[in-house]
Amino acid sequence: MNKNQKPMVVFDLYGPYMVVGAPKCVNSKGKEIDMGPVTALCRCGHSKDKPYCDGSHSKVDFSGVKNPDRREDKVVEFKGKDLTILDNRGVCSADGVCIRESPEVFQKDKKPMWIFPDNGNMRKTIETIEKCPSGALSYKIGTQRIQDLNRQPAIKIAKNGPLEFVGWIELIDDQESCPESKEHYTLCRCGGSKNKPFCDNSHKKIDFKDEKN
Ligand code: SF4
Ligand code: FES
Repeated sequence: MNKNQKPMVVFDLYGPYMVVGAPKCVNSKGKEIDMGPVTALCRCGHSKDKPYCDGSHSKVDFSGVKNPDRREDKVVEFKGKDLTILDNRGVCSADGVCIRESPEVFQKDKKPMWIFPDNGNMRKTIETIEKCPSGALSYKIGTQRIQDLNRQPAIKIAKNGPLEFVGWIELIDDQESCPESKEHYTLCRCGGSKNKPFCDNSHKKIDFKDEKN
């Protein structure tokens, strides 16, 4: 990466994600993806050269407008004795880390009150929250909200799912989109999210596939 260029992702309502500053990018198979000083990554889901843009967004009339039927972007607090867990369902990319790693705390069948902060070991619960790629989960100890880590800028391509950004890669678009955490967030690359540019798990519903990555 050019040490002078702060990594960022820049895009408008109708075009691809323009990633500037060549942060490290790895696909779900662990293969490093070539990134130039400016790299266009597909966000419409139709490129034949994924993860790169091949211009397909123009042919399919892609639009990044949010769907009014989307799940509300709203943070809900689940208070425990010492630990409060905050959750924004509107941006969850549903990779399932929370329910896999701390099933006693995150009980997906008990919606809407599905988080039980006192059920687990606090340290382990915090470690699980810190693995949440989308920023949907964060926590409070006392009154201080903790949601950002301090990682090197990088992008991971989730299998048949979103682009997972970490490390304070600045997001700049023409809609003033603001991720739940500016340190990490997941951007839709299937074209189906109702909450674009953020992933909302629609990739599963539309059965998005990218076998190569
Ligand atoms: S994105 Fe976060 S909240 Fe959603 S399933 Fe994954 S870990 Fe859980
Ligand atoms: S990649 Fe998750 S909704 Fe599009």
